[in-house]
Amino acid sequence: THNVVETEVLVVGAGPAGAAAAALLSTYGIANIMINKHGGVSNSPRAHITNQRCVEVFRDLGLESEVQRQATPQRLMGEHVYATSLAGPELGRLRTWYTHPHFQAEHDLASPTSVCDLPQHLLEPILVNAAAARGSSVRCHTELLGLVQDQDGVSARVRDRINGTEYEIRSKYLIGADGGNSLVAQEIGLPLVGKMGAGGSINVVFEADLTHLVEHRPGDMYWFVQPGVGHGGNGVGVLRMVRPWNKWIGVWGYDVDGPAPDLSEAEGIRIAHQLIGDDSIAVRVESMSTWAVNDVYAEDTMRGRVFCVGDAVHRHSPMNGLGSNTSIQDSYNLCWKLAMVLRGQAGPSLLETYRDERQPVAEQIVRRAKRSEGLMPPIFMALDLPPAPDPETMSRALAALQAPTLEARAKRQAFDAALQGTIMCFNTHGVETNQSYTSSAIVPDGSPEVPAPRDEEVYYYATTRPGRHLPHAWVTRDQKRVSTFDLCGKGQFTLITGVGGVAWAEAAEAVGAGFDMPIRVRTVGRGCDFEDSYGDYRRLSEVDDDGALLVRPDHIVAWRAATLPADPEGALTDVLAAILGRR
Ligand code: FDA
Repeated sequence: THNVVETEVLVVGAGPAGAAAAALLSTYGIANIMINKHGGVSNSPRAHITNQRCVEVFRDLGLESEVQRQATPQRLMGEHVYATSLAGPELGRLRTWYTHPHFQAEHDLASPTSVCDLPQHLLEPILVNAAAARGSSVRCHTELLGLVQDQDGVSARVRDRINGTEYEIRSKYLIGADGGNSLVAQEIGLPLVGKMGAGGSINVVFEADLTHLVEHRPGDMYWFVQPGVGHGGNGVGVLRMVRPWNKWIGVWGYDVDGPAPDLSEAEGIRIAHQLIGDDSIAVRVESMSTWAVNDVYAEDTMRGRVFCVGDAVHRHSPMNGLGSNTSIQDSYNLCWKLAMVLRGQAGPSLLETYRDERQPVAEQIVRRAKRSEGLMPPIFMALDLPPAPDPETMSRALAALQAPTLEARAKRQAFDAALQGTIMCFNTHGVETNQSYTSSAIVPDGSPEVPAPRDEEVYYYATTRPGRHLPHAWVTRDQKRVSTFDLCGKGQFTLITGVGGVAWAEAAEAVGAGFDMPIRVRTVGRGCDFEDSYGDYRRLSEVDDDGALLVRPDHIVAWRAATLPADPEGALTDVLAAILGRR
């Protein structure tokens, strides 16, 4: 007897990538099963920085207010203090996560959403609940053992870990969101390049009321130059806020080539006290674990009907907080495509664009995180410290920074430059917001590429050039502010046009009917559905008011027309035929 369960999409893994995929698919009305080998969601805080592009996905899912309600807001995230300990002398500060007034403006102009700090054990339930409430079948204690695919679908062998039963799940497509040791990536033979497990860190999750040490300089991470064997051989210890200001993670390094680290409660308390710098503060250790920095990306992200998302295809340092953010955006890229192919609105070639669009992002973020990781050692190098300085050497080196000598002045300058240089570990707005695509799901408009006027890793570049993210502008309706993002999304293509757009609306209706895929039309401008009250849309749209932007469900501009062409229906038909693979 062959025990087979059928569904449209099987999602393997219920972390940020998998739970987002299940929530998106169910929102789009696609039947899916999500399996998770563990009994529940992440039992530790893990990833926490939740960037604007990621919050935009939650906004599209209708989950933004729930996320903001549980998250620590941006205004409590930004003071990154460098010190000898939390209670000890400060060595310098950074204003991170766009809390510097200059970057605050950049941040606010780029999106209707705000970066926030939402630890993974609080984020995952929001996504898993939404998935389950909207129709996903969520199966915990269920482990993937192997898979085979053929012309028509994928057969996955799974084991129920409660009763040991094995059965088969047959699906049309499979999403491997099974994390940094992905069995799916291995089963389909994705080529992974890079190195796993550089440096060793101990995470101590603990409760302690540190309000008096941080409320006047609120931040989500505090960095300590301390003696000892640290991360990558230098002694940087970190206190990371989990909940303000009574739940924390202490991060301390250990030598991976040495003996196994001590994970006793007493050692946890000792580490916490060393980072805090005040042994009189009561500390209750909740858990201890070790982790290592990986530096790996996949050169391909899919094979036939099987796709890998999240850590399965990119693993890197937590610097820049790109882990779960990128994982969720992988799913945001993939799921509308799967929905359209499964509904018969698009041909399978649309799915190939998942690889073309997201593989370069995987590579880019892994490289960025590695470069950021490399920005910490120069702080220690500026002090001429040996790899594992003892307390005396360390305090002598720090004291020497204050000497009124020429030699000390040079050291001061090097130290301050190294410290301020670490801002690129936390403030790469462009890396987050400028991800852009080249694929058959993007139709060039023939306009010349205009180089970004500013550093694209640091600054958001607002442009409607096809392949770029739709720029955010506030427009109004019935006197209320609405973001351009809210005109789009929800699994549908949107055509945004202006005062001269009547012909576009007719064209979109005809083309949508022809492809059996409704195209939403929104008009922005005087007397339109939405008023361009601030004049921002006019400027940012880069098209005339009888031109149009075709925006994909994931807020990416698929195509644009500067003005109304002679045959808008013909033009739109050609564009959608190319994107949907229905030539
Ligand atoms: P994730 O690993 O979250 O989820 C994998 C899922 O697959 C789980 O549900 C698992 O049970 C399931 N699974 C695996 N194998 C399976 C199988 N065979 N069958 C069924 N289910 C299976 N990032 C960051 O930005 N800042 C940070 O501070 C940290 N800190 C951190 C600490 C620790 C200890 C870890 C392990 C990781 C981090 N990260 C991090 C990384 C961050 O957690 C990571 O980028 C995201 O969790 C990736 O999300 P995914 O959904 O891709 O995988």
